[in-house]
Amino acid sequence: MRTTPRSPSPRRYLMCPPAHFTVTYSINPWMDPTKPVDPPLALAQWEDLRDRYRALGHTVEVLEPDPALPDMVFAANGATVVGGRVLGARFAYPERAAEADAHLDWFRRNGWAEEDLRIPQHVNEGEGDFAVTASWILAGRGFRASPLSHGEAQEFFGRPVIGLDLVDPCYYHLDTALCVLDDAGDEIMYYPAAFSPGSRAVLARLFPDALIATEEDAAAFGLNAVSDGRNVLLPQAAVGLFEPLRDRGFEPVGMDLSELLKGGGSVKCCTQELRPRP
Ligand code: ARG
Repeated sequence: MRTTPRSPSPRRYLMCPPAHFTVTYSINPWMDPTKPVDPPLALAQWEDLRDRYRALGHTVEVLEPDPALPDMVFAANGATVVGGRVLGARFAYPERAAEADAHLDWFRRNGWAEEDLRIPQHVNEGEGDFAVTASWILAGRGFRASPLSHGEAQEFFGRPVIGLDLVDPCYYHLDTALCVLDDAGDEIMYYPAAFSPGSRAVLARLFPDALIATEEDAAAFGLNAVSDGRNVLLPQAAVGLFEPLRDRGFEPVGMDLSELLKGGGSVKCCTQELRPRP
């Protein structure tokens, strides 16, 4: 139990409204094209998340949604930004391929220099599979990102990349099974069963004090969360995580993104962090 409160640090996020969100194809086990989605509700839930970030003092940039790209609301997948440098995405499925260019165009139009942008050679879905801590970039593989993208990220960012093997199709992106709670330190929460035995051992060695999520909270997408170092925005259904987060000095903020869960995403999937130059 920690008694000193934690300090949040101001963040800059890129989000894309679910104006054209639907589930017409299935590229993860959560997507069922026969289940209807409620577009106005999806938009209202997304606006709540955006407004909550702003109320906490963070900056939210908005990317124009493309009617041909129903998964574009999951903005975390469009790029990875560390130290002001942008590694673009290259999507595993053709349905989402065009999102990569939409993101790169946004960076070009918003003041990023060409030398800080990198078009990747290998498949990576942005922060879906890359998570940034103080010491490392944790990188998922197994369902989406190519293992070769890990070396590419390490070379581009000059940070050690730790490869982690995902083994359960329900947790097809790293950000569905692991969340960085404090990126000024190396604090995370994760769901061990989503990882191979070797990767579990790596996580236990690097993060001996990590918050371990139950299957129930993981299945409620509780690890698809965003932390500013103090406030942790997470799906409200992940009730088992609230107390352990408070015990560690964090402030859990429950959000309802149930409509977006029909696409297989929640808080973190909707949020790309634009990490500034040091
Ligand atoms: N339907 C999207 C897909 O399968 C959901 C992406 C969720 N994003 C995330 N960062 N996990 O690609």
